[in-house]
Amino acid sequence: MTITPLIAGNWKMNGLRSSLDEVAELAGLLTTGEAPRALVVICPPATILHTVASAGATSGILAGGQDCHTAVSGAHTGDLSASMLADAGAQYVIVGHSERRAAHGETDEVVRAKAEAAIGAGLKPIICVGETESERDAGNAEAVVASQITGSIPDAAGQHEVIVAYEPIWAIGTGRTPSCEEIGQMHNAIRRQLVERFGEKGASTRILYGGSMKPMNAREILDIENVNGGLVGGASLLAKDFYTIISAV
Ligand code: 13P
Repeated sequence: MTITPLIAGNWKMNGLRSSLDEVAELAGLLTTGEAPRALVVICPPATILHTVASAGATSGILAGGQDCHTAVSGAHTGDLSASMLADAGAQYVIVGHSERRAAHGETDEVVRAKAEAAIGAGLKPIICVGETESERDAGNAEAVVASQITGSIPDAAGQHEVIVAYEPIWAIGTGRTPSCEEIGQMHNAIRRQLVERFGEKGASTRILYGGSMKPMNAREILDIENVNGGLVGGASLLAKDFYTIISAV
């Protein structure tokens, strides 16, 4: 089965309207160079989501949100629903990023409800999982991730497209990554679990790697079996770096 890889940039709480220059530069690189072999997604802050979605449209850059509420609408000051993101031009939304799990106390149950809300609004949720350093050191990485997968992925993933992102927490923003062997083992374990639960659909679900993916290491990581793309933080902020990662596919 061939899965078209997907490279998503998570801008986190970075990006102003002036960052549109980077999108324009990336659009230029994507349309003048060799056609990318991956789907390209940028998840900017919600304030510029609509502009990024519009600016990227002609060059095939897709847009995504970074989080959504579980509810469709209502009295939730400061929150955004999945349908609002869709209305602003998003096709994807990150849910359950470790920074939200940690800073906003998001449990697997909440993440699962957010993924369901995303699917309900016609978005493709990018569902994040990943162990802490002490969980890995204790030899529990696979068990922790397996339980996050069970708890965070809704049954609707059997009929709808979801994307899984494996992001070891200790690799995020640190410049450290697991070895290729460790990444491969985890992605294989996630694949087995997805196939067991969702059959064919699980076999074709993209599993992205995230955590200090850089122009320098992208090629070797993207080459690993069952790594179907990347979720890139810091290196997605500069068009040139992000383009190099996209070109590594
Ligand atoms: P970095 O690429 O900056 O390590 O961030 C990874 C990440 O958290 C993407 O969601």
